[in-house]
Amino acid sequence: MSVKGTLKISASLMCADLRHLEDQLRQMEAAGLDWLHFDIMDGHFVPNFTFGPHFVQQVNAMSDLPCDVHLMVEHPDQYIPVFIEAGADIVVVHQEACTHLNRTLQLIRREGASPGVALNPATSLQTLDYVLDDVDLVLIMTVNPGFAGQKLVPATLDKIAHAYERLAETARDIDLQVDGNVSPENARKMCAAGANVLVAGSASVFRPGAAIAEATAELRRAAREGAASRGG
Ligand code: DX5
Ligand code: ZN
Repeated sequence: MSVKGTLKISASLMCADLRHLEDQLRQMEAAGLDWLHFDIMDGHFVPNFTFGPHFVQQVNAMSDLPCDVHLMVEHPDQYIPVFIEAGADIVVVHQEACTHLNRTLQLIRREGASPGVALNPATSLQTLDYVLDDVDLVLIMTVNPGFAGQKLVPATLDKIAHAYERLAETARDIDLQVDGNVSPENARKMCAAGANVLVAGSASVFRPGAAIAEATAELRRAAREGAASRGG
């Protein structure tokens, strides 16, 4: 069993109410959220823009929670050092954006952060075969990256289960993260399939009208039920 067992919830800041950032951060901490998830978009790899390293640095100065930086950018090697300098603890790059993925993952490790690799819904799990020694986290995208508030791509549920089986064969502990429409209902299925790190956005923790603490507790409960149904 080589998927890290512990359930972790990573709060997606692009879905938070940024008009009240400090207050939202205190609520996330009080709710027991584990990581802060930064969706970094460059208008090329995905058709949208979000935050740069300055935002990561400012948020990092306001909270002790680990910074989980999801780079949806082309040429990630150019930006990895500056995001780590800004406070990124975990840096996740897209397989599809890396010509020399092995080199990029080594760069993240050498610069002092924990490397992860993300796969779009249509990208085969086989692309992971030769990098599993170099990552601490695998991210299975459950929507096409670029926007919050999308519907789950159904085929990704089987993909999570297959990724779990693949990671279980490895000697190292690797987190299995999911990102996109992680509602409580979907989280139950995702954790039943083997996911242990959930990115919580507008489908759960930042659902309009719901309090962060209650929405987090509901998501955690659903995730635990899902993991228990697998025996995990
Ligand atoms: C999508 C982003 C996600 C997004 C998830 O490109 O990577 O992190 O914020 O949020 P919801 O819950 O809206 O799918
Ligand atoms: Zn993300």
